[in-house]
Amino acid sequence: MKTLCVLGSPRPKGNSSAIAQHFCAAMERLGSEVQTIPLNALSYRGCQACMACKTKADRCVLRDELTPVLAAICEADVLAIATPVYFADVPSQLKGLLDRMYSFLVPDYRQNPNRSRLPPGKKLVFIQVQGRADPEKFADVFPRYAEFLDWYGIRERYLIRDCSGREPGEIKTFPGTLTAAEDVARTIMGS
Ligand SMILES: Cc1cc2nc3c(=O)[nH]c(=O)nc-3n(C[C@H](O)[C@H](O)[C@H](O)COP(=O)(O)O)c2cc1C
Repeated sequence: MKTLCVLGSPRPKGNSSAIAQHFCAAMERLGSEVQTIPLNALSYRGCQACMACKTKADRCVLRDELTPVLAAICEADVLAIATPVYFADVPSQLKGLLDRMYSFLVPDYRQNPNRSRLPPGKKLVFIQVQGRADPEKFADVFPRYAEFLDWYGIRERYLIRDCSGREPGEIKTFPGTLTAAEDVARTIMGS
């Protein structure tokens, strides 16, 4: 079992990264191989809409530091995405990756029921934190991406959400969300 965790926050000691770290530690303890990639440390461009991945290549033709991340997503059994909410959505660091994941769709994805180039059975864990201490706010962020995850064939999905609005790193002293992260790890690993 391979877990790939991408960190969307620019803060390595922020709350989304802390929850992700806790989730990854639990996955490792339960026997998964884990790789963590902080997107903010990488240099890459957003999707150029060149359509090369739909006309002449079976992958994204841009060559930059996101190239191995896209390859690692193909290989992972579990993709964990940790993100803060920035202006009611994900930060640009993560949006850049999500847009480049367009390359995982086959050329005729609009008509083809098998839209995805990804191997089937991948699981997704979405870790979302926000400043506003109101769970009704920004509850739409993850569901908005659900249709696209269906297209990729990623149907087993888990949301770990923290709306406590804590200062960076403070999450570690409030175990509720960390326990939720451990529970998800146990469910995925079947233990
Ligand atoms: C540019 C920017 C935009 C933000 N926009 C929102 C927002 O729309 N809603 C919200 O609840 N919090 C917003 N926040 C607060 C962050 O989501 C919050 O501080 C979060 O805990 C940061 O996560 P991190 O510790 O993992 O970096 C924003 C913060 C920044 C820096």
